[in-house]
Formats: sequence, structure tokens, C-alpha cells
Amino acid sequence: MYNSKIIGLGHYVPENVVTNDDLSKVMDTNDAWIQERTGIKERRHVVKGDGDTTTTMGVKAAKIAIERAGIDKDDIDFIVFATLSPDYYFPGPGVLVQRDLGIKTVGALDVRNQCSGFVYGISVADQYIKSGMYKNVLVIGSELHSHGLDMTTRGRSVSVIFGDGAGAAVLSRAEDNETGILSTHLHSEGQHAEELSLIAPGMGKRWVTDIIEEADPNDESYFPYMNGQFVFKNAVVRFSEVIMEGLQANNLEVSDIDMLVPHQANLRISQFIQKKFKLNDDQVFNNIMNYGNTTAASIPIALTEAWEQGKVKKGDLVILAAFGSGFTWGSVVIKW
Ligand code: UT7
Repeated sequence: MYNSKIIGLGHYVPENVVTNDDLSKVMDTNDAWIQERTGIKERRHVVKGDGDTTTTMGVKAAKIAIERAGIDKDDIDFIVFATLSPDYYFPGPGVLVQRDLGIKTVGALDVRNQCSGFVYGISVADQYIKSGMYKNVLVIGSELHSHGLDMTTRGRSVSVIFGDGAGAAVLSRAEDNETGILSTHLHSEGQHAEELSLIAPGMGKRWVTDIIEEADPNDESYFPYMNGQFVFKNAVVRFSEVIMEGLQANNLEVSDIDMLVPHQANLRISQFIQKKFKLNDDQVFNNIMNYGNTTAASIPIALTEAWEQGKVKKGDLVILAAFGSGFTWGSVVIKW
């Protein structure tokens, strides 16, 4: 058994900055509401037609991660791609990354776990490396939300929150079992599947042909729906539980945490967790102010920035924690 460790990180966000004031020009919202309820100041949106997609952003982030890992693309043994906003309905973006990076015909797996997608992806990569099956696994989280949001007042409670971007990590075999990924913890509760969801188009209820045939201007089923307060209440409970589960599995205490990188869902959620665990400002990394909620990309973008800023250092105990649609949630405990 080998531990896995993160040997390279990268992120990419589109250049186009969309401020809260920009949003207030197209819907009934305002900077004060958005900042007070979510902490978000601005987010990035791909400009339609400029060529960026979930895959291309993921590829850009992956190239940086691979370069920083100091390996060649052909050293990648497996690709894991987490997103809820794939370029195509099928195939998923994993194979598009294999093609665009020009990697040999390694396996490519697509993960559909929304905000927890990157944590699930890390867990999968960790198991493959621990078992000895693969040495280097590329894990990507990428989202292009903006083209699918309802940018009118009707959709404001969701649309102001989500942003576009990508992050990537290269996991490799650690030399020992004292460092690297110590454990991962995954959960789901499908009972609440529809509380944060995008129902159509889907084969279950309404396909594209139904939407076109009905041509109903009041149809909201192809925009994301979120029962915000219900999701918020579940998030704070599950974040706390899964962080504690990770610590307990490794006989660690909250006081051992050097850096918590939570999924950037809402600054108020991060602050709630920080307060509950009595963590200092320099023990929790937040960048939702600049990017909004980028779902599967939020943890790898945040982890990359934390590492770039020297806030994640050799020997640090780093916890990744996520909660979102599904509901799904999870944590990763890392000795850096
Ligand atoms: O990443 C996956 C996990 N996601 C989460 O964890 C998100 C969890 N939920 C949240 O972050 C919060 O529930 C939201 C930020 C989505 C919403 O905040 P809230 O404090 O729960 O507000 P609310 O939905 O209860 O809405 C309060 C009021 C409503 O008006 P009335 O009914 O009180 O007159 C909304 O219509 O705010 C109104 N509102 C807005 N006003 C201005 C909703 N969206 C907006 C907006 N601008 N963008």
C-alpha cells in the first residue's frame, strides 16, 4: 500500500469579470444583498463564442498542474474529471481532456457529484494509487455555469452565486505512508436530490424534444433550482460532521488543522464552520469573494491559490471538505 500525494496544482479562470453591479443591470439585485448573504463580490463568466468550455478550462488548469508536478503528460496513467456542466450530454469531458492533452489511451472517468465532485475524484485517484494500479492520476474539477443560468430576476437567487472556472491536481505515489492523503470520506443522501438540481433535459422527466414542443416561456425546469435555506442548513451540519469524521479517523484534533479548504458555497457557511471549530482566519481559506461558487472547481481553485500564496506548506495538516447537490458531501485529510 502506498499513500498518494498531490504533486502539482493548477487553476484557470476566464478573464471576463462580472461584478455584482454588472448583475444588477440585468436583474433586480444589488451588491449589498449579494455580499451580505454570500460574501461574493465578483465572479468570472466565459464570454459566449470566445472558445472556452468546461473541457478547455480544465485542460488549461491541467497543463499547469502537470508542469508543476514535473512530469510529462505521458506519465499520466488515468484521468478523473468532475463537473456538472459537461461540454456534451455524452461523452463526458474526461475523454476530451485525453484528446486535447494528447495523452496516450489511458482511462478517463467522469464524476457527477456536483460540489463534492473534486473530493470524490480525489478519493477515486487515491484508491487507484494506494492499490498500486496507477502511479500518476490527473484530477480535474471544471464548470461553465454561466451559459446555463437564468440571468433574469426570476433566477436571481441562484444566478448571482455561480461562476466559471477550473482547477486540477496531479496525484502521485508518496514515498511513505506518513504524508500525503491520509484518508477520504464520502457520503450521499439522495432523499434530497431535487432540493438542488437541474431536472431537464433528462431522460427521466423531460427531454429536449418535450421542451421544444411545449415551448413554454414559464418553463424553469432547464435552469438550476436550489432550495437555498434548506441546502444551507444541511451544509453546515454535514460540513461539520465530515470534517470531524476525517479527524477522528486519523486520531487528530481540530487543533491539529493547519488549513481547511472548504468548498466555496457561501462565505457564511465557511464562517459558520470556522466559528464552530474556533479556527483562526489563517486556518481557513476562502476566495468565493473573487470567483463565486464554481462547484466542482471551487476546491482545486482554492487549494491552488492557497498553495501559491504559501498557505499550504510541507508538514501541514490540510482538510478539504465539500457539500452540495445530491446531497453529496465528503472530506479529504492530507499531511502535506
Ligand atoms: O454549492 C452547493 C451548496 N450551496 C449552498 O450551500 C448554498 C446554500 N444557500 C445559500 O447560500 C443561501 O440560502 C442563498 C444565498 C442562496 C440565499 O440566501 P438567503 O438568506 O437564504 O435568502 P432567501 O433565499 O431566503 O431570500 C431572501 C430574500 C427573498 O425576498 P423576500 O421573499 O424576503 O421578499 C428573495 O426573493 O431575498 C430575495 N432575493 C434576492 N434579493 C436580491 C433572493 N435572491 C436575491 C438577489 N438579490 N440575488
